[in-house]
Amino acid sequence: MTVSMLGLILKKRSGEAHTKTEIDFLVSGIMDGSIPDYQLSAWLMAACWRGMTLQETAYLTDAMCRSGEVLDLSDIGPLFGDKHSTGGVGDKTTLVFVPLLKAAGIPMAKLSGRGLGHTGGTIDKMEAIPGMIVDLPIQKFKEQLADIGMAIGGQTGELAPCDGKIYAMRDVTGTVQSIPLIAASVMSKKLAAGANLIILDVKCGKGAFMETLEDARDLAETMAKVGRILERPVLAVVTDMEQPLGMAVGHTLEVIEAIETLKGKGPADLNQLCMELGAVALVEAKLASNVDEAKAKLSQLIASGEALESFRLLIQKQGGDPRVIDDYSIMPQAKIKQDLFLDEALINDMHLPQGKSRYWIKQLDGKRVAEACKLMGAGRTKKGQSINLAVGVVLAAKVGDHVDAGARLATIYGDSQNDVDQARAKLIEAFTLSPEQVDSPRLIKAVIT
Ligand code: URA
Repeated sequence: MTVSMLGLILKKRSGEAHTKTEIDFLVSGIMDGSIPDYQLSAWLMAACWRGMTLQETAYLTDAMCRSGEVLDLSDIGPLFGDKHSTGGVGDKTTLVFVPLLKAAGIPMAKLSGRGLGHTGGTIDKMEAIPGMIVDLPIQKFKEQLADIGMAIGGQTGELAPCDGKIYAMRDVTGTVQSIPLIAASVMSKKLAAGANLIILDVKCGKGAFMETLEDARDLAETMAKVGRILERPVLAVVTDMEQPLGMAVGHTLEVIEAIETLKGKGPADLNQLCMELGAVALVEAKLASNVDEAKAKLSQLIASGEALESFRLLIQKQGGDPRVIDDYSIMPQAKIKQDLFLDEALINDMHLPQGKSRYWIKQLDGKRVAEACKLMGAGRTKKGQSINLAVGVVLAAKVGDHVDAGARLATIYGDSQNDVDQARAKLIEAFTLSPEQVDSPRLIKAVIT
């Protein structure tokens, strides 16, 4: 029977599963331009509503992966780790995780993206380090892996290019929010990048693509199962993104926080996330016999300074100025630094009972914090736009922490008073305070191995 795009749309519309031939037809038609945008968008909407079976998702992942170059790292070494987060606010984990895991004995081949929607991107963050080269051509990426066993490069169009085309269409047709489509998008890029130990951090909550634990777990399990079908082991951890990760949001500020974490002075949640993700990877790679032993090893690498030296080496090899490790002032700096205090006026504006000496943070909406940063130029409103790496927000407290009346809630870093004022108004909307004590949320919600 001949395969046609109309036939695929009708089949998906009625909830039937595609064969491998049909999925291959879809992907090659997207790549050679023979499938018009209107038919692709109709199919995407049908897939979004009707879903896809695991087998179909695996066919799609595999076909998208093979739509471009597929990296083979086996000539450089037997083991390469890669870590991927589905996107969040304040997520600078990669900057800590890559040098830390390399120091622990797992070479790391990491390809990262730029900011997407309200979520930040590692590649943008790395550009805050003067001289840092992020657009590593594939050959250079491989050479650096052979040389020092770690590299963080930008996701190039040569790997899984079909994902770029589908993603651009999903972005403008309301079809981003689909578990099989997200799973195929993420996994096709991970498989094409060549690592054989893939660790996925699936974010869950208001600052993430997956808002509920059920959806985040479903996505994590789908990706793990697709990995199994395609014979590439995947570990997935579902983590909280109801609030930003760590205290800093904004490029320079997040690099500082990552370096502080490698110095053993990072925020508890970021440190915990790196330990948990790192521990499952070390156990899987048989470099530790259990999670506790793995965590002790990772803590020791931070305490001894080896993890920090590993980051210094990475920066140096990628053309960055390694003095940044000891001198944060060489990164772009904001002109204005303004504290946000929980003063009487703010207590009033937040409709909190007056006269209390202490309040608790009940909610801290990551999306709004990101929007506050974006108002100062930290995010893009158009593709390819340049962004302000200096601006951002440093929180003084997180959900479950208490803030005394008159104390600091956050510090805003902006380049003009007008920007800071706008960001301040948005940032205030991010906070929900309570006069009653509130528990801290659990960071690790599920581990899927
Ligand atoms: N990140 C991706 O790479 N793809 C998606 O579809 C969503 C998040």
